[in-house]
Amino acid sequence: MNSTQQPQTLIAKTIAGLEETLADELTLLGAKDVKVITRAVSFSGDNKLLYEANLWCRTALRILKPLYAFPASTNDQLYQNIFNYPWEEIFQVDNTIAIDSVVNDSSFTHSHFVSQKVKDAIADRFRSKTGTRPSVDIENPDIRINIHIYRDVCDVSLDSSGESLHKRGYRVAGGLAPLSEVLAAGLVLLSGWDKQRNFIDPMCGSGTILIEAALIALNIAPGSFKKSFSFMNWKDYDASLWQQIKTAAIEKQKINDVYISGSDIEARVIRNARGNVIAANLQKNINLLVGPFDTFKPPAGGGVMIINPPYGERLEQEDIVAFYKSIGDSLKKNFAGYDAWIISSDMNALKFIGLKPTRKIPIFNGPLECRFMKFSVYAGSKKDQYTQPNL
Ligand SMILES: C[S@@+](CC[C@H](N)C(=O)[O-])C[C@H]1O[C@@H](n2cnc3c(N)ncnc32)[C@H](O)[C@@H]1O
Repeated sequence: MNSTQQPQTLIAKTIAGLEETLADELTLLGAKDVKVITRAVSFSGDNKLLYEANLWCRTALRILKPLYAFPASTNDQLYQNIFNYPWEEIFQVDNTIAIDSVVNDSSFTHSHFVSQKVKDAIADRFRSKTGTRPSVDIENPDIRINIHIYRDVCDVSLDSSGESLHKRGYRVAGGLAPLSEVLAAGLVLLSGWDKQRNFIDPMCGSGTILIEAALIALNIAPGSFKKSFSFMNWKDYDASLWQQIKTAAIEKQKINDVYISGSDIEARVIRNARGNVIAANLQKNINLLVGPFDTFKPPAGGGVMIINPPYGERLEQEDIVAFYKSIGDSLKKNFAGYDAWIISSDMNALKFIGLKPTRKIPIFNGPLECRFMKFSVYAGSKKDQYTQPNL
């Protein structure tokens, strides 16, 4: 493995639509050679930056450390090139391992087969060097090895994060369709919220958008709830460097009494949201109440609203159109002075909001292609607000 302090290329993976946001986050952390690639950002950094990226990047799913690459079009080439690598210098034989493989446009067509072959080669390597071999743990391995074969070139990386970074650790209860924490943070960052104006989510479900907004406002590192990352199991793990980075993160937290509030029509959902807010220790920063959107009165002074309304999987098309129309009516009636952002995969229903969007950002929620649309609601009736959007 490269020496701990040498800058090397690292890869941060993300959701389609958040690449630029993640690139900005990495640049702020001090990353060099930042480049947007497909659902990921490549950058150059040392182990300090690798640890910091795991702790601080709100829109990264995982941070990979590429080890080496080789041509691989046959089983033998794959096996030998994995076997020849000094894995025993990277982790201990009593660490559990898992192999994540992706194959595209290559002689290999089955990722599961590739994972098996790589696992066998690593196990044989350890057996030849130590007389014993690491065990596999698919669910919760100490060491994750990432294999990407594209056009018969095999890239081998170590996954420094382990469990996906979207699992912050504060979600003790789900909602009806909770957003990924990474997507929620991305929406708040994309909205350009200045951390001073009121922030509201009146369809808050389990509270993910509110919690991510509060973490941003207070400059709390999103990884600060997590107990472990995969890099802690690497032989070159520098525990005192990690401790310094954690201590510095606590010192960077800010006091901010900006108003952050959410509501939901379902009392049960708000109970769950409250549990999550308490788990994130944000109960002093986030107000929650039960109630329908059409009677929600946002605080005076304007601000930013983000909602993730139901998309129509649970509602008939007629009902969803009426529902989105009613959202638009409430916006016009109650939300003057607000930048209202809506994320939805229902492009047809979005047309019935009846306000002209000032931004339309394509983004994915899991497999669902969505639009994240901004409606600036002015006081009085600006005629051009009420035209149909061209999606
Ligand atoms: C897709 S979920 C939101 C998930 C949320 N972003 C999260 O991360 O948990 C939509 C939410 O809208 C709420 N909802 C539906 N109709 C509503 C209405 N008329 N007023 C307020 N909330 C409503 C549902 O109860 C549900 O919790």
